Amino acid sequence: MAPVPTSNSKLPAEVQAIEKFFYLTPERLNEIVKGFRTEFEDGLQNFGRDTAMIPSYCLNVPNGSEVGTFLALDLGGTNLRVCEVTLEGKNNFNVQQRKYKITDELKQGEARALFDYIADSVDSFLTDIGTEMDENEKIHLGFTFSFPVEQTALNKGKLLTWTKGFACKNAIGHDVVKLLQDALDRKHVHVRCSALVNDTVGTLLSRSYQSGPALIGAIFGTGTNGAYIDRVETITKLGETAITESKKGGKDAGEYMVVNTEWGAIDNQRKVLPVSMFDNKLDRESINPRKQAFEKMVSGMYLGEIVRNILLYLVDNLLLFSGYSSPILNTHYGFDTAFVSAIEAAKSAQEVKSAIFRELNIPENNISEQDVELVQWACQAVSTRAAALSACAVAAVVLHTKALDRSDPIDVGMDGSVAEFLPFFEERVRAALRDTIGQDAEQRVTFGLAKDGSGVGAALCALQAYKAEKQGLH
Ligand code: GLC
Repeated sequence: MAPVPTSNSKLPAEVQAIEKFFYLTPERLNEIVKGFRTEFEDGLQNFGRDTAMIPSYCLNVPNGSEVGTFLALDLGGTNLRVCEVTLEGKNNFNVQQRKYKITDELKQGEARALFDYIADSVDSFLTDIGTEMDENEKIHLGFTFSFPVEQTALNKGKLLTWTKGFACKNAIGHDVVKLLQDALDRKHVHVRCSALVNDTVGTLLSRSYQSGPALIGAIFGTGTNGAYIDRVETITKLGETAITESKKGGKDAGEYMVVNTEWGAIDNQRKVLPVSMFDNKLDRESINPRKQAFEKMVSGMYLGEIVRNILLYLVDNLLLFSGYSSPILNTHYGFDTAFVSAIEAAKSAQEVKSAIFRELNIPENNISEQDVELVQWACQAVSTRAAALSACAVAAVVLHTKALDRSDPIDVGMDGSVAEFLPFFEERVRAALRDTIGQDAEQRVTFGLAKDGSGVGAALCALQAYKAEKQGLH
């Protein structure tokens, strides 16, 4: 299958009519990039915007020489992870980790129950790995909390809204470090939460630690978001006092700060994104309608569901599976992005049929050649658009930071299941980058998977907090 497909004129008219929402022309892509830049700038000037452009208070980008052992917590993907991260210097690290399941009940119950569960998990992790507790010195922990949080310090921030299927009560507006620390203290777990980090910030730091300075840390996983390095002066909403304060942060501080864009919420007003009837259905049936508009077209939590909506439309138009479906196909979120990856990776019609049978439970002898083509088309359309839109976000950051006017590398550290497992993702991102920032510029951009960004990034931030504390800066 072609990595960067274009629209297919042999398809039925109903299908061709849908294609304009998925195969975006260079003009359309550039219009989207322009809209994104406007939102970035607005978010840097004003608090309270959907694209929150959150100052992370992370002022030092690591160079790979940092050393120390820290605990890291990672909440916001599919599982809760507790890790012990040893930064070994020389760009190396070592991670011991355990995963703990977060049930839907915990995701949507009382915040206190969620944080108690997290504290219990930290406790059992420490017992499991046999960490010695020193009664006089608490273990420092970096908390990767991958939701929009308005940070006011490296270890302080209020939750703005939940995303990605979380909806705990009594959390929005609360300081998440305090929620965690109170739970740890209630359970007498001798751990001190000293830094709060978004996963994108962690990815940026971890990538820089492993392979030199990165401009962007991006997550294309359950959700999507990006962090990048900006000049502190550009974050005008911080005001003069805060900007001066931030300059006390360390030897290279003052000039730059990592900004968490929260680009998943770009264009919640739906002014520039190519919103189709399938996207609208997904949005109105979601637990957060009219929120995370961009994320709902790009991230792993939703790609399978958009494909499902398209397939059902084709079934109801008697174009697919002779108008029949299956209980899985009829179930909200009945299958996930792994199905899309399997179809995209299939090397023959038979492999597509087997995947349809395995994942959707449609009997193979009910799958025609046209069905195979249509399912492939739907998966390709949805994942090509996801990659093209991802490129628009990257392009908007590159243009906003004027990175092309400088000679230093333009490196993007990525993490997440879409970046890692969706076939052709990077090729398709690159194709759309050529359409937006141009071919020469596209060639200057490097992408690399920054595995374990959440763990390593949290440890690096905990180290930064620890150093600042030793210098009496907190
Ligand atoms: C969602 C969250 C954001 C996070 C992203 C990736 O968009 O709001 O904070 O970085 O998912 O996990």
